[in-house]
Amino acid sequence: MHIQVESLTHIYARGTPAERVALRGIHLEIGPGERVGITGPTGSGKSTLVQHIAGLLVPAAGQVLLDGVPAHARTPEARARRRQIGLAFQFPEAQMFEVTVFREVAFGPRHLGLGADEIAARVRWALEMVGLDPDAFADRVPFALSGGEMRRVALAGILALKPRVLILDEPTAGLDPRGRADILARLRAWQAQTGATLILVSHHMDDMAGLVDRVVLLADGQVVADGPTGHILSDCDRLRAIGLSPPPAVALLEALRAAGWPVRTDALDVEEVVAEIVRGSISHKDTKAQRI
Ligand SMILES: Nc1ncnc2c1ncn2[C@@H]1O[C@H](COP(=O)(O)OP(=O)(O)OP(=O)(O)O)[C@@H](O)[C@H]1O
Ligand SMILES: [Mg+2]
Repeated sequence: MHIQVESLTHIYARGTPAERVALRGIHLEIGPGERVGITGPTGSGKSTLVQHIAGLLVPAAGQVLLDGVPAHARTPEARARRRQIGLAFQFPEAQMFEVTVFREVAFGPRHLGLGADEIAARVRWALEMVGLDPDAFADRVPFALSGGEMRRVALAGILALKPRVLILDEPTAGLDPRGRADILARLRAWQAQTGATLILVSHHMDDMAGLVDRVVLLADGQVVADGPTGHILSDCDRLRAIGLSPPPAVALLEALRAAGWPVRTDALDVEEVVAEIVRGSISHKDTKAQRI
């Protein structure tokens, strides 16, 4: 699906003393199958923006087009496009209400009007996709699961809709490092298998480094940067200027560089950083040797 965000402005509580402009003329284009991260400090408008992309909010000005159709319109064309977008809200487990995991994951597919066999097949597939054994989990009560398991069930409920666009609002918030890494690996596998568009909202620079090719940086309701992940996340000065911390790998390389090591600073994961330190240490020795 082709997503176009054009001059999008959103105002909460318009005309009241609590009025708040959350988005100020956003421009953004996301092509089919792209993997895009959206980041920015708290309150910068990330959740508001993705709710617009999912057609859940009405713009104060501007518009979001899904394959050319306004996302929030009350037409059959708009409804059909919205149905192809899966949005996992921040802390989606707060919205679970079914009595079994099976019913919880089946809720969306049932509302698509699918037959019982297709629903059961999708529930199995989606649970496996998020790393939960369907035989062990299908009959369990969602409320009696751990926080991490609930998060996976909520995610399975969205994957079971087989969205062409998956939007995840802070999918790893509150999870431990291993749980985070596992969910990210599963999302990577899901995206590779389906070729769907992935839009990841996250404060975790590390999460984005491993999952998206492009990062959009929001600050105070505006796009302040939009480009390849390595380029955006290695710009320490810009990240700090809007109150974000660079990924630890980048911060480490930046510190080495400040200490005179000839390393580049756009390596984002541990393997790349080690390779860069080794390379830097070799050329560091070379320059020392030349000096002697
Ligand atoms: N329902 C609402 N009513 C009034 N103001 C709101 C509402 N939701 C969000 N806002 C305000 O709009 C701005 C953008 O909020 P939004 O939730 O989009 O930010 P965010 O980037 O997702 O933040 P976070 O990182 O904390 O999730 C904030 O100033 C917020 O206080
Ligand atoms: Mg948010």
